[in-house]
Amino acid sequence: AEIQTHTFVLQSTSVKKLCGTHNIITVNGQFPGPTLNVSNGDTLIVKVYNKAQYNATIHWHGVRQFRTAWADGPEFVTQCPIRPGGSYTYRFTITGQEGTLWWHAHSSWLRASVYGALIISPTMGTTYPFTKPDRQIPIALGEWWNRNPIDVVNQATRTGAAPNVSDAFTINGQPGDLYPCSSSDIFRVSVKAGETNLLRIMNSAMNTDLFFSVANHTMTVVAVDALYTKPLKTNVLMLGPGQTTDVLLVADQGIGRYYMAARAYSSGQGVPFDNTTTTAILEYEGSSTTSAPTMPSLPFYNDTKTVTTFADGLRSLGSHDHPVFVPQSVDENLFYTVGLGLINCTGQSCGGPNGSRFAASMNNVSFVLPSSFSILQAQLLGKKGVFTADFPDNPSTQFDYTAQNISRGLWSPVKDTRVKVLKYNTTVQLILQGTNIFAGESHPIHLHGHDFYIVGAGFGNYNSRTDPQKFNLVDPPMRNTVNVPVNGWAAIRFVADNPGAWLMHCHLDVHITWGLAMVFVVNNGPDSLLSLESPPSDLPLC
Ligand code: C2O
Repeated sequence: AEIQTHTFVLQSTSVKKLCGTHNIITVNGQFPGPTLNVSNGDTLIVKVYNKAQYNATIHWHGVRQFRTAWADGPEFVTQCPIRPGGSYTYRFTITGQEGTLWWHAHSSWLRASVYGALIISPTMGTTYPFTKPDRQIPIALGEWWNRNPIDVVNQATRTGAAPNVSDAFTINGQPGDLYPCSSSDIFRVSVKAGETNLLRIMNSAMNTDLFFSVANHTMTVVAVDALYTKPLKTNVLMLGPGQTTDVLLVADQGIGRYYMAARAYSSGQGVPFDNTTTTAILEYEGSSTTSAPTMPSLPFYNDTKTVTTFADGLRSLGSHDHPVFVPQSVDENLFYTVGLGLINCTGQSCGGPNGSRFAASMNNVSFVLPSSFSILQAQLLGKKGVFTADFPDNPSTQFDYTAQNISRGLWSPVKDTRVKVLKYNTTVQLILQGTNIFAGESHPIHLHGHDFYIVGAGFGNYNSRTDPQKFNLVDPPMRNTVNVPVNGWAAIRFVADNPGAWLMHCHLDVHITWGLAMVFVVNNGPDSLLSLESPPSDLPLC
């Protein structure tokens, strides 16, 4: 195993896109940011200098951070933000993960432009559990705003209304040739007939689930969220923000040019928020660069059936070298509702529905970040008043979660900083139940510091008698981000084997802004964080 050292400088950079020039925050002037190539077992030391005008942190999305919680990165959870002019060094080791992960800013909406790929090759001396690819192609799906995304979210927070949607979807930072002024702003990659390509796809978009297809080519999924899967052939992928998918693509079509394309899956909406398509070009060596590329047919914006078929097809690899250890029994049984709500604006009218403001919650608690200490520091120092350990294990009232407007109680969540304390090594089963109080939507729920098995999922209200009988406890897929189906539920299992404070949240940034988050504190007693290393000396304080 190697030790790799990198320097990230956050800075303002001017970029030309969609008929205009804009200043965005980048890492080292690059958009998207640098791709890190490592092997399983390697240690990364990344020194981050903040030369931008905003508070910032970097999160290593999906990295287990086994016993290195100080390096996880979400602001006010494991560290206070790096102030403008400040710096912080992240140190961590990749343990037991192979495939594609990514890194992104975890402060306000900075991640709109501050993100990049983290590619993890097999442990030195071992190889892939599939045909060795001839070429690797990172594909970062993203979103582009013609306005400063931080202004967009700040305006929405002020008014209580929904924030503006982005102006384009992107592939490796480029909108592609279907958007205005973008005919040459398109990612192109050349491949050789007969060769096998490993596409490492990540959804780095802020607020959009995305379908992805390649014209005329079948893809074989081999890993999701840096965990190997049984090979799954498909013509279309759906990735929620935060998710990654590795696919093998054999260049087995005629010499020519083929579009790779992505567009939104707007799960619960009667109308698509944005039905535009971002494109990139796969060009065979020897093809004419003037020939028109073939376009794939992407699913309709609300094609939940295709999403479900794809999700249901995923299975852990479960080979001798990559075994499956699904917990067969459970110590903690948790049931969390996830969804949107509204908060009344007393004495004034806000910009949300009926003069209210948008809110989102888990079990009717809308998460508020602390500001004086990070949760991890407060836990370690025994500081009172930063958070309370009373996050509820169940919703306060039971109702028909998938019917609209039934329970007035859940219209209006409480805003608070509550955590759930898990004893070290507890086996957890968590049911994530989507709600439809005024709108149902699919939510990509991401857990920091742990991967989990998705043992079941379905539509409607979870039934604790009949649904567990259908759980897959043999080879369910393991991920760090699960798409809770629109008007449905997902069941996950994990072992709380990593001491620290771990954020769990919807990876649609608009929902985290509205409070769709909570924190698990994993420790071995009320005040001890078992074997957590003491904080690095340069840890930013509030
Ligand atoms: Cu990809 Cu909390 O993050």
